[in-house]
Amino acid sequence: MAAAPDAEPDTGPDTGPDTGPGAGPGAAPVISFRGATKVFAGPRGGVRAVDDVDLDVRAGEITGVIGYSGAGKSTLVRMINALELPTAGTVTVAGRETGALGERGLRALRADVGMIFQQFNLFSSRTVAGNVGYPLRIAGWSRERRKARVAELLRFVGIADKARQFPAQLSGGQKQRVGIARALATSPGILLADEATSALDPETTQDVLALLRRVNAELGTTIVVITHEMEVVSSICDTVAVMEQGRVIEHGPVYDVFADPREPATRRFVHSVLRDRPSAETLARLREHFPGRIVTVRVRADPGTRSALSDVLTAHATERGVRSTIVYGGIRELADKPLGSITFELAGPDDAVDALVADLRRHTPVEEAADRGDPTEEAG
Ligand SMILES: Nc1ncnc2c1ncn2[C@@H]1O[C@H](COP(=O)(O)OP(=O)(O)OP(=O)(O)O)[C@@H](O)[C@H]1O
Ligand SMILES: [Mg+2]
Repeated sequence: MAAAPDAEPDTGPDTGPDTGPGAGPGAAPVISFRGATKVFAGPRGGVRAVDDVDLDVRAGEITGVIGYSGAGKSTLVRMINALELPTAGTVTVAGRETGALGERGLRALRADVGMIFQQFNLFSSRTVAGNVGYPLRIAGWSRERRKARVAELLRFVGIADKARQFPAQLSGGQKQRVGIARALATSPGILLADEATSALDPETTQDVLALLRRVNAELGTTIVVITHEMEVVSSICDTVAVMEQGRVIEHGPVYDVFADPREPATRRFVHSVLRDRPSAETLARLREHFPGRIVTVRVRADPGTRSALSDVLTAHATERGVRSTIVYGGIRELADKPLGSITFELAGPDDAVDALVADLRRHTPVEEAADRGDPTEEAG
């Protein structure tokens, strides 16, 4: 890790102008990576955990960071609160360049960037109130002010009655509420979450996501979440950044990235989390019951296209006797728009099925499963 200089450079005001409530999508970036690189020293030249990343996160936005294990997500996010400093390039957070900060600047930065974790990272020997008040103690708040602030925070996250309990006495969802209250104690403009709901059941996950949405809407907090859960992306993220081998390979509004992934790695990731297509194993099982041609039809936002698809299927059924049976599928809402695909078995004379597929293709991408004997092919 590069040593920070002792001198305090002029990095602007303690709280950047873009971090407060009222800033929304369309606002200036509050986090900017420019050629940001993090190489961990080691044998054989070390590990390039983050590699030449240019990325802007706008104030008031909720950004998801996704990608396979080892892609560099945690390292990227830890660069935002200067737990990792870039070995090349820059990371600028609310007007401060992290690599140029001294002790005092780092403290101010970290007070403005809260963080929550998958395993909650609470002090087991402190009460809920003690955990939430801890960062305020470090920041030198008086006992009186701390008490009032902790009470306010516990009310906000909905566990006012748990102040005197210890973490071991709480459920996972309650522990994460403590984590969120603690992260918000110093009123940070930015909140980082590293797989913060991965240890929770689906219902509790929804509760915690609703709380994060409230944090964003009511406090104007910019939120960056690392996740492998589609639920998290679809229910809270405005934009998503996809990482592979240290690089951000795609970044944009959630619907755009998921509906139209450009990179093969993004496409693989999107398919694996949408689960809207049959896996090779599922396809093999489907073949046993559905010997006809199996095609997967993509479903997108445009309602006109969807009714056109129904019309095509109906017309070919009545006019040419092609029977279409729904055998698999999944459509979900993302940014209030439908996204997914439906897999059909088409049974009928070969040329009639060909004509139907050609007609469907005029409206939406259609992928055909490979013939029996080679069922593992997954079309792009
Ligand atoms: N402190 C460190 N020292 C050396 N190598 C590290 C360190 N931290 C991370 N790495 C390496 O950097 C790469 C990226 O790691 P990182 O933890 O950022 O990935 P990730 O995308 O968060 O993965 P996961 O989804 O498993 O949490 C990995 O190859 C990892 O082994
Ligand atoms: Mg990680």
